[in-house]
Amino acid sequence: MTVNKLVAATAGRHTSGRNLKILVAITGASGALYAQRLLDNLDVREHELHVVLSNYAQQVISEELPGGLQLPAGVRTHNLKSMNAPFASGSNPPDAMVVIPCTMGTLGRIAHGYSEDVLLRAADVVLKERRKLILVPRETPLSLVHVKNMELLLQAGAILLPANPSFYANPKTIREVVDTVVARVLDHLGVANKLAPRWAEEEIE
Ligand SMILES: Cc1cc2nc3c(=O)[nH]c(=O)nc-3n(C[C@H](O)[C@H](O)[C@H](O)COP(=O)(O)O)c2cc1C
Repeated sequence: MTVNKLVAATAGRHTSGRNLKILVAITGASGALYAQRLLDNLDVREHELHVVLSNYAQQVISEELPGGLQLPAGVRTHNLKSMNAPFASGSNPPDAMVVIPCTMGTLGRIAHGYSEDVLLRAADVVLKERRKLILVPRETPLSLVHVKNMELLLQAGAILLPANPSFYANPKTIREVVDTVVARVLDHLGVANKLAPRWAEEEIE
């Protein structure tokens, strides 16, 4: 048995074994590839996967994803302006909602309880029903307004998982850089992944 500081996680190590109902919300922040890589790594045969885009998400996707957003077959998409979605009601919330990437605008609206479209209402529902809300904000630098909104969200129980990649595993491609963040999102969802090397994990030969 050899011990490497950085090796890929062994399969199954972080498995919940549960089928989850997951809502992925994509907003108009830079980093559409984070959303794409998350969708690429959620198995629709294992989890019930829903997607909703903010008004501005499509514009950034057009700038950043040459082939557009690729939705895996079986993903259920929802119209932002229709409340005809399960998670618009506290009677049918998802197990988890991930806003990735998350603008400061959406983050602020969620922090202050705006619920005028289905994305914001879903976040409101997830918080009030004490389900898991993972926000992946992307902005720099931050103003006090941003930080105060983040503070409020942390107090309300949200997980703030900024799109801050790590470099200690020497990622070689943009995808590998992005995956250092997406791996942490999957970890917080409780979804098995070996997307990015883990620090000081033993490699068993
Ligand atoms: C190319 C592009 C990149 C952007 N990147 C960011 C960003 O990283 N973070 C952010 O908070 N807003 C960013 N914005 C601004 C948001 O898209 C804008 O504030 C929008 O109103 C957010 O709406 P939404 O939260 O409903 O998606 C960007 C806009 C464009 C066009």
